[in-house]
Amino acid sequence: MINFECYKDKKVLVTGHTGFKGSWLSQWLLKLNADVYGYALEPSTSPSLHEQLGLKDKISSKIDDIRNFDALKDYIRSTEPDIIFHLAAQPLVRDSYLDPVYTWETNVNGTMNVLEAVRQLGFETNIVVITSDKCYENKEWIFGYRENDALGGYDPYSASKGAAEIVVSSWRRSFFNPKDYSRHKVKLSSARAGNVIGGGDWAKDRIIPDCIRALQDEKEIQVRNPLSTRPWQHVLESLGGYLLLGRSLLVKDGSNLENVCSAFNFGPYGASNKTVEALVNEVLTHWKGNWNYIKEDAFHEAFLLNLNIDKATQILGWSPVWNFKETIENTISWYKLVSEDPELAVEVTNKQIDRYSDTFFENLNN
Ligand SMILES: NC(=O)c1ccc[n+]([C@@H]2O[C@H](COP(=O)([O-])OP(=O)(O)OC[C@H]3O[C@@H](n4cnc5c(N)ncnc54)[C@H](O)[C@@H]3O)[C@@H](O)[C@H]2O)c1
Repeated sequence: MINFECYKDKKVLVTGHTGFKGSWLSQWLLKLNADVYGYALEPSTSPSLHEQLGLKDKISSKIDDIRNFDALKDYIRSTEPDIIFHLAAQPLVRDSYLDPVYTWETNVNGTMNVLEAVRQLGFETNIVVITSDKCYENKEWIFGYRENDALGGYDPYSASKGAAEIVVSSWRRSFFNPKDYSRHKVKLSSARAGNVIGGGDWAKDRIIPDCIRALQDEKEIQVRNPLSTRPWQHVLESLGGYLLLGRSLLVKDGSNLENVCSAFNFGPYGASNKTVEALVNEVLTHWKGNWNYIKEDAFHEAFLLNLNIDKATQILGWSPVWNFKETIENTISWYKLVSEDPELAVEVTNKQIDRYSDTFFENLNN
């Protein structure tokens, strides 16, 4: 019987805990009775899910830069986590064009700092590095990328995530090789998820937060790339994948680790690969409003991007739970309920985690 009981009383360090995914992950881990620690910058949006969930008072954390190797290493030394989920990153494609060097330093050196701190400290732990579906060399084709496809990336963000994967692969082969586990005692994997959506994302230049801000202000939604296709998935889908991958590291003994100490895609089924226009139209079935196409000197962004999820399905038993309609329904209902009563943020988030995990474990155990 698969469940997440292995997280109970475990020390779990989430880098990027003040962000959108990090806040959902922290909340889920708190429900699992884990000892959650965080390392990140202050929330960069207002509102922020981190504040809406009151996480500041519920988890121990260090506010500092992932590029600050000494501070990061000290924090990892003082917490000695059983598992690290490394999410801290500059995650926006458009910002990566505006500050490519910061994006590379944060995403590539930041990842290297986490791995190198663990290497230098030399204690037993597990690490899941979160990169992105954008880490692949995008061929603009309809096929889903497999974990062994070429890494790459056109814009600085995508390329930095491809480079972070190369860092992971190099540290794994050189220092945390699964074959020598008994010597170094570190299990290291990476997770590549698609475009996640869900309540509580307030980032700029992301389509769902853009929709919500416009709808709340009764304005037209401005859509930049209506025909771009993305593998839309609810944030809980990717987090379920990260936690399942983390679980397999935590519970597995030191033998035959090659399968799990590797990269995994966590994307939706093909039917959720929809255009931005289809996404916005689905949002508008739940919240009345209009949208309009804005033409601007757009930065280059991938047009077609799908993930092949056979590996996660075969090795971990993971599969997507919510279809496209359920994903949008849960996302929009979160924003609506919390807009009506901000006090409900924790309750609505917990209910969605419970509802999602019921089906998640039912699927896993059947
Ligand atoms: N949201 C998505 O659709 C998506 C898709 C694929 C991958 N990802 C990846 O998931 C992770 C989390 O993304 P998110 O959507 O929650 O982003 P977010 O912007 O909401 O959160 C980013 C987090 O990283 C931290 N951070 C950023 N720069 C930092 C620095 N220099 N030092 C320390 N901390 C820093 C922030 O403080 C924040 O806690 C990222 O690695 C991102 O690349 C996100």
